Amino acid sequence: MKIAILISGRGSNMERLIEAASAPDYPAEIVKVISNRPDASGLRTAANAGIATQAIDHKSYASRAAFDAALEAALNEADVDLVCHAGFMRILTDEFAARWEGRMVNIHPSLLPSFKGIRVQQQAIDAGATISGCTVHYIIPALDSGPIIAQAAVPVLTDDTAETLSARILEAEHVLYPTAVKLIASGSVKLVDGKVVRSLDAKRADTACPPLFSPQP
Ligand code: GRF
Repeated sequence: MKIAILISGRGSNMERLIEAASAPDYPAEIVKVISNRPDASGLRTAANAGIATQAIDHKSYASRAAFDAALEAALNEADVDLVCHAGFMRILTDEFAARWEGRMVNIHPSLLPSFKGIRVQQQAIDAGATISGCTVHYIIPALDSGPIIAQAAVPVLTDDTAETLSARILEAEHVLYPTAVKLIASGSVKLVDGKVVRSLDAKRADTACPPLFSPQP
């Protein structure tokens, strides 16, 4: 399976996906990393790992649709099967999201459907949540609302700040995302009629993660 990763910043999740995919038995190959911000440090990290990179600066496009068209052309040119958003801070048009349904996934730093949008770690603290975590989900037009592929939980501690909670969740993200993408690429997780269907392999995948991070497919 050929994968493109979309980033806007440091790309630590991207880095974990690149590392995981470099293992000979990983069922996917990262063929391209694209950023909407030319100054994203993740572009350098990807290039250093020998991955083709491209900056598509959203500020150079007059409309969201024009930016999406340029992005789609780049994805098609690379003959991509799956698109992984990893800290990609652009909202795509509904049409784009609908066309890529089942072929585009995201990692979000909360246990969806709780805490959508931005600054979700602070949202979790403000709500008094005692457990938070991260979610890998298929992307649909509605923001942070697509079918859930895998989740990992972490505790929210009494003295947590958004920074300390983000760091704990990020550690879980780094385990969860490569695990979830492996399940998709190996065919163990599929989107059928808008719902995630998991094979027995996916149900066993929780053993791949440390206890607190355990995704429960
Ligand atoms: C992660 O917390 C991800 O869940 C969110 O943005 C952050 C990106 O971090 N969507 P990184 O660029 O992967 O380090």
